Amino acid sequence: MESDPLHSPAHHHPNSKTALLSFHTDSSITTSAAKPTFQNKVLLISLLSTTFTAVIAAVSFAFLFLSATSAAAGESKTIKITTTARSLTKLTHPIVILISSDGFRFGYQFKAPTPNIHRLINNGTSAELGLIPVFPTLTFPNHYSIVTGLYPPHHGIINNYFVDPITGDKFSMASHEPKWWLGEPLWETVAKHGKKAATYFWPGSEVIKPDWDCPSNYCIHYNGSIPFEERVDTVISYFDLPINEIPVFMTLYFEDPDHQGHQVGPDDPEITQAVINIDKMIGRLIKGLEKRGVFEDVNIFMVGDHGMVGTCDKKLIFLDDLEIPSNWVQSYTPLLAISPPPEFSPAEIVAKMNSGLQSGKVVNGKHLKVYLKEDLPKRLHYSDSYRIPPIIGLLDEGYKVEQKDSNKNECGGAHGYDNEYFSMRTIFIAHGPQFAKGRKVPSFENVQIYNLVTSILDVEGAPNNGSVSFPNSVLLPHA
Ligand SMILES: *[C@@H]1O[C@H](CO)[C@@H](O)[C@H](O)[C@H]1NC(C)=O
Ligand SMILES: *[C@@H]1O[C@H](CO)[C@@H](O)[C@H](O)[C@H]1NC(C)=O
Ligand SMILES: *[C@@H]1O[C@H](CO)[C@@H](O)[C@H](O)[C@H]1NC(C)=O
Ligand SMILES: [Zn+2]
Repeated sequence: MESDPLHSPAHHHPNSKTALLSFHTDSSITTSAAKPTFQNKVLLISLLSTTFTAVIAAVSFAFLFLSATSAAAGESKTIKITTTARSLTKLTHPIVILISSDGFRFGYQFKAPTPNIHRLINNGTSAELGLIPVFPTLTFPNHYSIVTGLYPPHHGIINNYFVDPITGDKFSMASHEPKWWLGEPLWETVAKHGKKAATYFWPGSEVIKPDWDCPSNYCIHYNGSIPFEERVDTVISYFDLPINEIPVFMTLYFEDPDHQGHQVGPDDPEITQAVINIDKMIGRLIKGLEKRGVFEDVNIFMVGDHGMVGTCDKKLIFLDDLEIPSNWVQSYTPLLAISPPPEFSPAEIVAKMNSGLQSGKVVNGKHLKVYLKEDLPKRLHYSDSYRIPPIIGLLDEGYKVEQKDSNKNECGGAHGYDNEYFSMRTIFIAHGPQFAKGRKVPSFENVQIYNLVTSILDVEGAPNNGSVSFPNSVLLPHA
């Protein structure tokens, strides 16, 4: 994360060689702006099946009630098995392991045989068409939305790097000062209820909060050089603790396949290899848990933070063409964020920029649109923070903004675009006692995950942007 140059402002990789390969498939992927009817059908079917499940649950409830007074017990039992949570066999309380594979674009799981990930999918519950990231579809804003249930303006991490407009202080991915990190992340919620949490890397996990002091041995400081195997083995080792000392919530983070995605784009064989390696890590975890007899008892969430799209073919827009000086620009691409000096009117600059972009005189101008942040589409939830610069640009998928033509190799992969693009989607896979086996649910935004975890752990969560009823639509109720 923080020491990863791929997550730094400049995503350019002069050594990328094979990214041309990424061009063909990406441009053919439909965005949800033109919602494919297929998707709507799936949604409809899933909604219907949710209703159906609810009816079954109601019927089974009725049976259970009746069975107390009549002899219908036999039938109620069969229904019960399919609709309620399975009981724990070895553990005495629910445990959640939250795994993130950075930049795991939805669909990567079909690139190669991934037997371990598919074991979780086939015997667990997954988002059929992927998990929807928050905007901007960047690593830090999304990881922190997953663990707080908040949209970026409310959790404060509005970009991977930004400047506080009041103090002038700079946030970067290595900033651990509490003032930046708002909201209540899951590890804090858990600790607040007197339970133990363990973080093996997650953005924000090293930040001291009122109820989280980043305890040594249970809050590992970020070091991207630590082999994935070692991370997995440490998480497994927590299960060797006396049963009441096992953390009830654990995180586990892998930088791949984001790392490769930036260099070579989403369609390169290097991604396939990285995905196969992540699958091996999942296999290693499953095996370690099985050996300890707890695999079926543990709730495993496997998610990503965002997807990836190929960038190449001079899909570039230069700010010099719009006469925007570089010292106004807080971030270029894919999230264009501009803070003009106070003597300029942001509204006038937006108007001037958009007329330039639409004039036909700016190369690729029609692929960028700029907004006053308060005029951005509401669905992006990206205005309600003083930290967000006044002017935000939305780029078409695969386009990039630079100050001027520098002739560097722009081929590779990027993310940060509108979260409506299908290429920005990632995965949601969950396996454990409260997840139906082989169930597919419609896509949802990652801010819903917080309530899922607090519901499984039976702790009261902080107010957040997930819906209170969401867990009922995904989790099996207790018997
Ligand atoms: C899936 O779950 C069933 C029932 O619990 C079990 O018998 C089967 O071995 C599991 N399959 C895999 C691949 O884990
Ligand atoms: C990071 O991890 C590597 C590999 O385990 C180790 O050699 C290195 O000393 C660590 N760096 C820091 C700063 O702890
Ligand atoms: C998100 O949650 C925060 C904190 O509870 C709240 O202030 C805000 O209004 C919510 N926003 C939306 C769009 O739900
Ligand atoms: Zn990322």
